[in-house]
Amino acid sequence: MVDTDATARRVILGVAGGIAAYKACEVLRRLREAGCDVTVVPTANALKFVGETTWSALSGKAVDSDVWSNITEVPHVRLGQTADLVMVVPATADLLSRAATGRADDLLTNVLLTAHCPVAMFPAMHTEMWQHPATMQNVATLRGRGVVVKDPDSGRLTGADSGPGRLPEPAEIVEVALQLMDGAAETLGTWSERDLVGRHVVVSAGGTHEALDPVRFLGNSSSGLMGVAIAREAAMRGASVTLVAANMQAAVPSGVDLCTVTSTGDLHREMHRLAPEADVVVMAAAPADFTPAEPSGSKIKKDGDGGMTLHLVQTPDVLKSLTEARAQDASRAGQVIVGFAAETAPDRAELVRIGAQKLARKGCDLLVLNDVSAGKVFGHSTTHVTVIDSDGELGEVAGSKSQAAALIVSQAAARLV
Ligand code: CTP
Repeated sequence: MVDTDATARRVILGVAGGIAAYKACEVLRRLREAGCDVTVVPTANALKFVGETTWSALSGKAVDSDVWSNITEVPHVRLGQTADLVMVVPATADLLSRAATGRADDLLTNVLLTAHCPVAMFPAMHTEMWQHPATMQNVATLRGRGVVVKDPDSGRLTGADSGPGRLPEPAEIVEVALQLMDGAAETLGTWSERDLVGRHVVVSAGGTHEALDPVRFLGNSSSGLMGVAIAREAAMRGASVTLVAANMQAAVPSGVDLCTVTSTGDLHREMHRLAPEADVVVMAAAPADFTPAEPSGSKIKKDGDGGMTLHLVQTPDVLKSLTEARAQDASRAGQVIVGFAAETAPDRAELVRIGAQKLARKGCDLLVLNDVSAGKVFGHSTTHVTVIDSDGELGEVAGSKSQAAALIVSQAAARLV
């Protein structure tokens, strides 16, 4: 057994009896890599799919599934009470039903009844079972109680059939788990409320590439992590989300539609195609402001010892053009447009002053100010953002990008009519 770090976040990984239980092994491995202390609580049926030895070896802990083992430690109460997150991967139709009705017939359902922390369920089952009114009602009951129940992905199921019912990829499940623990109470509140059901959110992310020739480009190192966190937050709150991704390495959250672009010109075109139907548009991408005036159709060759001069022209300002297009279209009057600005400023007051000018110049409703004076720009999982509107500061987060995403999406949601 391994030593566990007393400061590590404590996760109870419940596993119900479905074929997707094998994917929970990968979830467990990734949670441990992220520094979590994980206790696996499988149901008796889950052990028919993946045995106790595997869970125990991967978690470094003994594994119990009934309430009759280690009785002196009262695990059926202690595990839930002391956890930072209880998650169930996969949640079967039967587990959802038992949880919704408050049954306590094994260790996992006891843990669910004693948890003081966020609880997240990741259902996986055949489409018919997922869409059955009984399951839908159980999911609604659980969500009504504050449990985060992630819609399953659509795709190939165990047999030859396909449809909604697939477990999301383990990497995505772990991102959601970490985002829930980061955001703790506030995030749980908004995710379980699902205040964006019926809304469409378009988010741009990543950095554009402007071609110099067929093998070279001008670009920037935007990771896309902030836009991805916003897309995930909006999707978990029930929105249908399209992520317009420019050259991004970050994984796309499950349930989010993807539109890939390369250059600022592509981004401009796709954002204008998607924005008319959107309730919220978020420009988190870092578009290049300049592009080569005449990209070469063939690879540029060295010419003796001399250097080279590039002739660049300005790209369209996508954000500004989106707010201008909205102003011309009465049907988009209620649309909320969010811009970003990475600025260096000697102090906070100056940062907000610069931001207010940019917000007015771009015509957006909210501006997310990123203080980059400390040299922290791209690729970090943490950030420091201040959200402003035309009246001034609305909130600040110095923390994870998921916490920042929760603030940004909440502020955008609050403006929707
Ligand atoms: N943006 C855009 N199109 C561009 C450049 C930027 O839509 N060609 C968007 C970004 O996605 C961001 C916002 O505009 O939401 C602010 O980006 P920033 O680079 O700060 O704007 P600039 O207008 O380039 O401001 P500056 O002159 O200060 O660089």
